[in-house]
Amino acid sequence: MKLTTQEYLIIRQAVEKGARNIEDIKKIVDIVIVDDEYENEIQEVIKVVHKSKTICNCLNISLYQILKAKENGANTVEKVCETTKAGTICTRCKTLIADIIEN
Ligand code: FES
Repeated sequence: MKLTTQEYLIIRQAVEKGARNIEDIKKIVDIVIVDDEYENEIQEVIKVVHKSKTICNCLNISLYQILKAKENGANTVEKVCETTKAGTICTRCKTLIADIIEN
């Protein structure tokens, strides 16, 4: 493990505040990516935090699943809902999904 405990906590906090990728984290925190292993550890922190954030409570769909759908080409709320099934019960999460797709 290359990340120190302090770096881990700082990066985790940045992701919890809304950083979605390493570029976002770099805007918030002064980090230097030293090698692939270091970058992979940061990616893992991002993944863990995103998996723990529920976007659709009806179906327990995480931010990670929404972002994966977006990454795989679902570029509208409808496509994300079709892919993940989020937003297909009470539909309250659709506004949040729209925010995620647009940002
Ligand atoms: S919270 Fe997503 S469908 Fe109800």
